[in-house]
Amino acid sequence: MLLVALLLISIITIIILSVKVSSGICKFSHHLAGKTVIVTGANSGIGFETANNLAQRGARVILACRNLERAECARKKIIDSSGNQDVLILQLDLESFKSIRNFVDNIYKTEKHLDILINNGGNYCTENKKTEDGLLKGMQINYFGPFLLTSLLLPLLKKSAPSRIINVSSFLYVRGRIDFENLNMEKCFIKYRVYENAKLCTMLITTELDRRLQGTGVTVNCLHPGVVNTNIMEAIENFFVRAILKTLKSFYKNSWEGAQTTIFLAVSPEVENISGKYFKDCHIAELAQKAQNLDVARKLWDTSEKLVGLK
Ligand SMILES: *[C@@H]1O[C@H](CO)[C@@H](O)[C@H](O)[C@H]1NC(C)=O
Ligand SMILES: *[C@@H]1O[C@H](CO)[C@@H](O)[C@H](O)[C@H]1NC(C)=O
Repeated sequence: MLLVALLLISIITIIILSVKVSSGICKFSHHLAGKTVIVTGANSGIGFETANNLAQRGARVILACRNLERAECARKKIIDSSGNQDVLILQLDLESFKSIRNFVDNIYKTEKHLDILINNGGNYCTENKKTEDGLLKGMQINYFGPFLLTSLLLPLLKKSAPSRIINVSSFLYVRGRIDFENLNMEKCFIKYRVYENAKLCTMLITTELDRRLQGTGVTVNCLHPGVVNTNIMEAIENFFVRAILKTLKSFYKNSWEGAQTTIFLAVSPEVENISGKYFKDCHIAELAQKAQNLDVARKLWDTSEKLVGLK
């Protein structure tokens, strides 16, 4: 009995260790002095770790956050740990197009160039609630908001080429479905599908933007950060699923580990000419066919432009 238990424990330990070791760490030590970076959702978790790392490399880092108090706290920590004073806060609420446009106006006023945009902000939102712009809250925070933000910043990114757009997505996109008649789930609301659909949209729009950016020197890639131990777990309602996920806790990455692929995409010279790809653990990963359908991607682009008021 004891022997079996010991055997089991060692097998589990070996599995956990091998998952951790193979989970991808950015090994590049390149500095980013003279570069300007925007990180959305930078006051906690992966966003914080990413901003902190890029500040340590000497970049000018703009923390785009909704909650200014928490952002100020993050900014202090980053300045302390990096010694880099060039860390700024600019308020951004992805739930409001007005806030996004305000943010972008400020960027154009103060920044001459923008070298890296990291669309990290997002939220596992399952509410059936509309934003002030009339779109489903979870879809706007995770997809329509970042879409508008990126679109408005494109002229600056193009002017600053070579520049990079990095989208933090999730492997949950595979479960998403695109129904153009029900993008904001007016016809039929399925809680757990909000996030999955938003992430599939993110993947598709990355594919489409890559097509549109050919030859501009701006690259756009998306990534799955790994299963990171964040508050997303708490939002899962099924008791058994949550219990299983919690027991597997040691498999999850911490925020520092979860930030590695984002940092890799921001700094690695290996990816300077790579665009339109999906990354996992600092490597290119295969993107499911449904996220590469160019017809759907094109239609999604047009529909999104209308819904966010760009057309
Ligand atoms: C991902 O990238 C595309 C193109 O850059 C952008 O329009 C979209 O909003 C981004 N999505 C997220 C969730 O960051
Ligand atoms: C990227 O493209 C440029 C211009 O064609 C080239 O000089 C550079 O070596 C390429 N970088 C990599 C990593 O392939």
